[in-house]
Amino acid sequence: MAPLVYPSHRCRKRFLQHARTRFNSLLSRFQQALDEQLAHVACKQAHRDLSQRLTGALVDGETVTFEDEGALSAYTLKRLRPRSRALFEVLLAVDSAEVLSSLLRSCRAATQQGRELRIASLGGGPAFDLVALLATLESLCFAISQEPDVAMTGEGCDPGDLVALQCAIRCTVLDLFPSWSSAVAAVGDVSSKIWSRQSPEFLELLAPVDLRSSDCQEIIDAVCKADVVIAAYVLHENEAAILGEDGVQGAFPQIFRHLPLDVPLIFLDATHRLWPQLVASAEAVSRDSLRAIIPEGLGSHIHAALLLKGTRMPTTSTTDCRRQLDAFTAHQQANQARLKKLQGRKSASVLDIDGS
Ligand SMILES: C[S@@+](CC[C@H](N)C(=O)[O-])C[C@H]1O[C@@H](n2cnc3c(N)ncnc32)[C@H](O)[C@@H]1O
Repeated sequence: MAPLVYPSHRCRKRFLQHARTRFNSLLSRFQQALDEQLAHVACKQAHRDLSQRLTGALVDGETVTFEDEGALSAYTLKRLRPRSRALFEVLLAVDSAEVLSSLLRSCRAATQQGRELRIASLGGGPAFDLVALLATLESLCFAISQEPDVAMTGEGCDPGDLVALQCAIRCTVLDLFPSWSSAVAAVGDVSSKIWSRQSPEFLELLAPVDLRSSDCQEIIDAVCKADVVIAAYVLHENEAAILGEDGVQGAFPQIFRHLPLDVPLIFLDATHRLWPQLVASAEAVSRDSLRAIIPEGLGSHIHAALLLKGTRMPTTSTTDCRRQLDAFTAHQQANQARLKKLQGRKSASVLDIDGS
């Protein structure tokens, strides 16, 4: 069931406007404070080089190295807003209602139990997921307070309930590169300045942790404890290592197997080409009913796949996004043809050099 019920389309529009305005203003404050901490180390040229390698990785699926501190600081400053905004838009999409419901339920449970909401952020340096969720929750609460006719399902729009949604968040970033440590520390520090309920200790970096490896106890532990698992912009740049005959390999089958019931697993990426293999692999190992959601109506550059296992769902494994997945399969085939051509051209030029 949808977590928020709007009495009219216009009310929903106004609600989203309030939420976006508050979100943007929180992100501006965050950006300013983060600038003070990271701008002096950020290196534009190193970031340009990194961005170029990331664009290449989207085609060849080869893992990119994140080691240069100047590049990582610039990456953090430059991508804070678009990345955080992408998660916000995904959570507010009409198709994501079940995922948002589950997230809000977990917030209330965390508040009742006097604990923090827990994020496992896979390939999560420099912890944009933490910022995005803190800002999304606050923006939602603000928008609800501005539009009292919007009802939260079950409980109605009770001000006490809004407080319960603004819980502190503990985020475990699992990443291949320890060089993220100073950017992660800066994000943790600024989070605690903007949201007084946050402490820098609530953000922890575990590195090196490799999503390409099936020997991944740290990842399983974090997934088992999480209220939400997020893998943003990390899948496709590992494609060459993780995509096998049986779909997505490495740590992913274990992640799917151990994902607790009612805990959303959110993938975001610069392309949707691997969503069909991702969903098929998750279905193959999940013993519980699995729901795959591909939210529509997002900006053309936001691609998301959401997985949720649950007791509240039909008993058979279902995906009602077949049509979209079929279209993505065609994109993946086109990319593979493109890659083959590129590789053919490269080996021809090596032959030319060797022959001359
Ligand atoms: C393109 S960045 C995305 C970072 C961040 N999640 C975002 O949304 O901008 C990819 C991230 O995944 C990490 N990463 C890449 N390959 C990885 C792997 N095999 N295992 C764990 N982390 C990995 C990188 O260090 C980097 O932090």
